[in-house]
Amino acid sequence: MAVSMSGSFVLFVGLVLVGVVSSANFDDLFQPSWASDHFVYEGDLLKLKLDNYSGAGFSSKNRYMFGKVTIQIKLVEGDSAGTVTAFYMSSDGPNHNEFDFEFLGNTTGEPYSIQTNVYVNGAGNREQRLNLWFDPTTEFHSYSIFWNQRHVVFLVDETPIRVHNNLENKGIPFPKDQAMGVYSSIWNADDWATQGGRVKTDWTHAPFVATYKGFEINACECPVSVAAMDNTKRCSSSGEKKYWWDEPIVSELNLHQSHQLLWVRANHLVYDYCSDNSRFPVTPAECVHQRHQ
Ligand SMILES: *[C@@H]1O[C@H](CO)[C@@H](O)[C@H](O)[C@H]1NC(C)=O
Ligand SMILES: *[C@@H]1O[C@H](CO)[C@@H](O)[C@H](O)[C@H]1NC(C)=O
Repeated sequence: MAVSMSGSFVLFVGLVLVGVVSSANFDDLFQPSWASDHFVYEGDLLKLKLDNYSGAGFSSKNRYMFGKVTIQIKLVEGDSAGTVTAFYMSSDGPNHNEFDFEFLGNTTGEPYSIQTNVYVNGAGNREQRLNLWFDPTTEFHSYSIFWNQRHVVFLVDETPIRVHNNLENKGIPFPKDQAMGVYSSIWNADDWATQGGRVKTDWTHAPFVATYKGFEINACECPVSVAAMDNTKRCSSSGEKKYWWDEPIVSELNLHQSHQLLWVRANHLVYDYCSDNSRFPVTPAECVHQRHQ
């Protein structure tokens, strides 16, 4: 297994890293979960194809708690209207937790949108949407989910675009007791994805191809044989073991990152469930508290 010496590893090399996995090879970490005939392997690159027969998807071989997951993606070029490419972490079952990136395609020349969502105990409806400051179809860009007991952070090229804070001290549940798998897929969602569902997928432009590389998981691996409660304990820093994602300099946003987040929200946010009064006449509790931070 190729272990990448990322900055965080070098920085915290003196610490005990229990069950932390890092790799750059698709096969070490992931496997096709549907339509493996819509996968194309080209050296370091993996391509997932969507056509009028099928989309495709992959999932991690293991489950994780806390840490950081990064994938580099080059989204569908040209006409991508009606298509959605997703990258997310999710646990299983009706009370599952989920952290989602959904890349919503558009007609040629119109911008892709990124929608993020957070599910806690089976309940989502926490969508945010933004347009990017670059064209995500011409180059690879990195998309990451960072997760510790304080917050979940969504990052694009290391710039935080969303933070979901732990507000358990305000009585609001936070996802920190279920191991999550890592997933990605491409599928047809032309009933809602592009311009509110008005623009349909033009199948004469198929196949729609999303290209991937640089798979990295720096997280606490949770064997299926270990009970959920024990996983939380195993994956939490304590006296004798310290995980890098709990270290003070990475465990919360630094000043630079806080400024980046403000910049993204001021210039690129196009939708936030927290300010959708027609959908939520009563402001969701976490939004009320988020504002005061
Ligand atoms: C697509 O392009 C239109 C027009 O520029 C824009 O309003 C919309 O936010 C874009 N994204 C999606 C997913 O429709
Ligand atoms: C899929 O699209 C191709 C090209 O437009 C067309 O020839 C074919 O009949 C379609 N197949 C199905 C199952 O719709």
